Amino acid sequence: MSLETPPSEQIQAYIASLFAVEDEVLRQIREQTVEQGLPQIAVSAEEGAFLALLVRLCRARRVLEVGTLAGYSTVWMARALPADGYLVTIEKSAVHAEIARRNFTLAGVEGKIRLLIGQANLMLKKAAAFAPYDLIFLDADKEGYPQYYEWALRHLPSGGVIAAHNALWGGSVAGNVSSPIIEAVRSFNLRVARDERVAAHLYPAGDGTLIAVKK
Ligand SMILES: C[S@@+](CC[C@H](N)C(=O)[O-])C[C@H]1O[C@@H](n2cnc3c(N)ncnc32)[C@H](O)[C@@H]1O
Repeated sequence: MSLETPPSEQIQAYIASLFAVEDEVLRQIREQTVEQGLPQIAVSAEEGAFLALLVRLCRARRVLEVGTLAGYSTVWMARALPADGYLVTIEKSAVHAEIARRNFTLAGVEGKIRLLIGQANLMLKKAAAFAPYDLIFLDADKEGYPQYYEWALRHLPSGGVIAAHNALWGGSVAGNVSSPIIEAVRSFNLRVARDERVAAHLYPAGDGTLIAVKK
């Protein structure tokens, strides 16, 4: 019997139908993000489910997210936290933050979340008060990743995990096309791949998540 590989969209749909099923609240958050005119740059349901799994794999009690948008990824991760866990999330846009705050209430996770509104480089100083973290998820401006990554390494214990979203940048990192943002993502991936302070891998679902475990 020969095994034929189905098209990758079919594989994605199969995996998502089993392991990344959104409930009504997550579906509402995702759909309203679009209706409210926010950019469609949240993680996919599959990536959200993967982040939730990471929270559990790390036995994370303290999570930091840089880049909230409407809180879709935040809700996936917050739901996976234990009862005494908390998640600090940073968002520069007051409009995005206001929508996210409403979504946290809608999902019933508002008690677990501290939302810091402002530029990440400034808000990380405030986030330090809640450190150390077990898991740090980067999903904001890609040019800022090297700075957030160094900050993360200083605020994670050994065994702590950094997850950085958009590591594939639509697949362009693997091609020959160049632009400032593609080069920023390529250079960040290379830096992490060569960093002896971590063990790392690029998980290719969705737009790619770079996972680095601090040694
Ligand atoms: C890709 S979206 C986050 C999506 C969200 N993690 C999710 O999957 O639902 C990036 C967010 O980061 C915010 N952002 C971008 N640069 C930032 C910075 N320097 N400081 C804080 N927030 C920033 C943007 O306003 C945007 O809401």
